[in-house]
Amino acid sequence: MPSTADCPVDQLYQTRRYPAMSHPLSDPAVTAVAARLGGLTTAEPGHARVLEIGCASGHNLLPLALRWPKSRWVGIDLAVPAIAEARQVAVEAGIGNAEFHAVDLRYFDPGEEPFDYIIAHGVFSWVPDEVKLTLLDFCRRHLAPAGVATISFNLAAGWAHRQPIIAMVRDLQAATGWELIATLNLLRDTLDEATPHGAHLRWIIDDMLAKGPDILPFDDFAPVNDPWRFDQFVLAAAHAGLRWIGESDPSENLPSVLSDASREALTPLAATPLHAQLAADFAVGRTFRSGVLCRDDAPTRPGLSNDGLFDLAVRAGEVTPTGATPLAQALYQSLAAVAPSCVPMRQIVAAMPEADSAALARLVYDGIIHGLIRPRIEALRYDARPPSHPSLNPLLLACARRGLPFVDVWHMPWGFPPAHYEVLAAMDGTRSHADLAAVAHACCPELDFEPWLQHLADRGLFQPHQTNTEQDRGPVF
Ligand SMILES: C[S@@+](CC[C@H](N)C(=O)[O-])C[C@H]1O[C@@H](n2cnc3c(N)ncnc32)[C@H](O)[C@@H]1O
Repeated sequence: MPSTADCPVDQLYQTRRYPAMSHPLSDPAVTAVAARLGGLTTAEPGHARVLEIGCASGHNLLPLALRWPKSRWVGIDLAVPAIAEARQVAVEAGIGNAEFHAVDLRYFDPGEEPFDYIIAHGVFSWVPDEVKLTLLDFCRRHLAPAGVATISFNLAAGWAHRQPIIAMVRDLQAATGWELIATLNLLRDTLDEATPHGAHLRWIIDDMLAKGPDILPFDDFAPVNDPWRFDQFVLAAAHAGLRWIGESDPSENLPSVLSDASREALTPLAATPLHAQLAADFAVGRTFRSGVLCRDDAPTRPGLSNDGLFDLAVRAGEVTPTGATPLAQALYQSLAAVAPSCVPMRQIVAAMPEADSAALARLVYDGIIHGLIRPRIEALRYDARPPSHPSLNPLLLACARRGLPFVDVWHMPWGFPPAHYEVLAAMDGTRSHADLAAVAHACCPELDFEPWLQHLADRGLFQPHQTNTEQDRGPVF
């Protein structure tokens, strides 16, 4: 295998720790819905073979492997220290269905058996062109016939405003030897917010500063950060024998921040969907996409029938719709009544026997594409009351001991201040509320314990307690 040690991307990741993160858009429970909406029925995530390329320390992959113990999970990354950490955490958490390899994608041989899901989050735009094309080609060769790849990438439309700032900061750094944050602050202070130009650049610099010194060297200021236009990505994918079937988040097929008036203005472009997408990216300055791709010979069928829609599981989105019809009100009330759980759509349909099923399907579809309804491929029920003896699963306990972000039932990452991890590490199911409140009082007296515990329970972080009284129900996967 040729050495890649002289590549700046390789050098960065071998020597500097990439922050542990999870990415909800890469969750197969979400991707499988995007595939269905794109006309493809993928394997059940609970019985699948899944590969993550550029998995870093496994923080995205391990919670998924724990959630679906019958599936087989493979993570690869060229960063040797990150893969060593992923393996250690897997052992600590007793996760036996995930394997990790420290290898450059270009030289990785996964064997004959194809993958039902391939995840490449945060990789495409940060690797040289040769690796980008290898990634697409790899997906085509190693996806199952109905398999899907989730590939996120940065978009030129939004990054066009950032690139001159990045170039200016790099020039200033080269001239002054200043470190990154100080240089960004200097540049920020030169801007006159009273002008549209100054206000716009200041907004971008503030956004960069908010990412902070742990992220920026891997993101805006990475050795390679190469945003593409959407058509460039679709063309390269097609060249490799792959087809884009939608965004992982269906409510981002048209950017969620696009106003109704802008959507209306795009209608003349309906006959050329690629250009409608490009115009929408341009209109909102979109910076990022998480696209779902399938093989160009995948058995897709256009659209999703009402029955197919009712086979999904659904939960209420973060935004409650306004000005709804009586049918919509009934639907959203049913979703609110089961929140925070995600329930089979058929359960909702059964509770509304008077509803016209075609009208209901239309409402559900509209709700999904506007982000008012969050779909998953399978239900997820949990009780959001904190159990009497809070207990974290072995992976979360390992994360607590290591001070790593938690990953909730929706695959969202949650970080905590260092002192909180001491309390979290004590949540092994042996201590009551009162015991834990005492631990919290001793190591972080400023912590408002009860609301904090509720915040954890709201995110489904607790396991059911062994004694399993009515009070002790936790997440049911
Ligand atoms: C920006 S990080 C993203 C990590 C993680 N997927 C995430 O989104 O949080 C990019 C990752 O890709 C890995 N990587 C870069 N080039 C690679 C290659 N040729 N083969 C395998 N992994 C690679 C890096 O080591 C790094 O862990």
